[in-house]
Amino acid sequence: MKIADLFNVAGYGVVITGGASGIGLGYAEALASNGARVTLLDVHPQRIEKETKRLQASGLDVRGQVVDVTDHGALDAAVDDAARTYGRLDVVFANAGIDPGVGFVGSWVGSERPRVPEGALENYADERWTRVIDVNLNGIFATVRAAARHMRPRKSGRIIVTTSLASSRIEPAIGAAYMAAKAGSLNFARTVALELAAYNITVNAIAPGYIVTNIGGGHAHDPVEQAAVSKMIPMHRVGFPDDMHGLALFLASPASGYITGQEIIVDGGWGLGTAD
Ligand SMILES: NC(=O)c1ccc[n+]([C@@H]2O[C@H](COP(=O)([O-])OP(=O)(O)OC[C@H]3O[C@@H](n4cnc5c(N)ncnc54)[C@H](O)[C@@H]3O)[C@@H](O)[C@H]2O)c1
Repeated sequence: MKIADLFNVAGYGVVITGGASGIGLGYAEALASNGARVTLLDVHPQRIEKETKRLQASGLDVRGQVVDVTDHGALDAAVDDAARTYGRLDVVFANAGIDPGVGFVGSWVGSERPRVPEGALENYADERWTRVIDVNLNGIFATVRAAARHMRPRKSGRIIVTTSLASSRIEPAIGAAYMAAKAGSLNFARTVALELAAYNITVNAIAPGYIVTNIGGGHAHDPVEQAAVSKMIPMHRVGFPDDMHGLALFLASPASGYITGQEIIVDGGWGLGTAD
């Protein structure tokens, strides 16, 4: 088989939640620039408008719709709408996610990571916990469910969940709900992968490490933070949404057709430890 056929996503109908920024936008660029028809669903109207226009102007088949993944009825309707528009739904990326705010230490790096009272468990507010679980776990559930409703009858589909290195490794600089939501998303993806395998639907997870995006107010754009984090990462650099292109295309395309229930980490080796 030729590479062009193995990775052929031309004409695919694709939905990406959180698609108007960062990692989701990276997925969109990877798929649309290879001929897929892509719908970006995002809660941020200005980003949807800006990025949809930009991608359309470069000749890509991209549409956008404002949807909050915590509104499951609106999410269902938007996925139905995309499937109706394309006449098929081949790939769904359940990707939208938010930053959980401060964890129990106050810095991403360093040998002395001071504890911060506002991040301590005893002070963890219910609403902060619930908000992260609502978006980062319940939103994944609702997106995958909406995808399955279209894919199971067709006995075909690819579902890709954005988890995080934090699904397996604790990051104490960010709130505990994030680790809980990401580990939950991973095990949910594995459960659904088992349920849907008999219907020729694969469900896999992409686990990014430290990727420069707008999450958490865009702190990762800070060159000082990037330089500090780069020292911890075995490849000595932070990641960018472009680093997600290859895996997104692989998991969406025929090349990965017999792979399901897997999480693939994209972190420059960060999860392995620190070498030099
Ligand atoms: N950036 C990283 O280092 C990193 C690392 C591991 C995992 N992730 C995960 O990657 C995913 C994408 O995050 P990102 O880093 O690209 O951040 P980002 O903020 O750049 O993009 C996320 C997008 O999701 C949208 N969004 C947020 N809440 C939403 C909601 N309720 N409904 C619909 N859309 C919503 C935002 O408007 C934004 O456009 C998240 O699940 C995040 O947890 C990011």
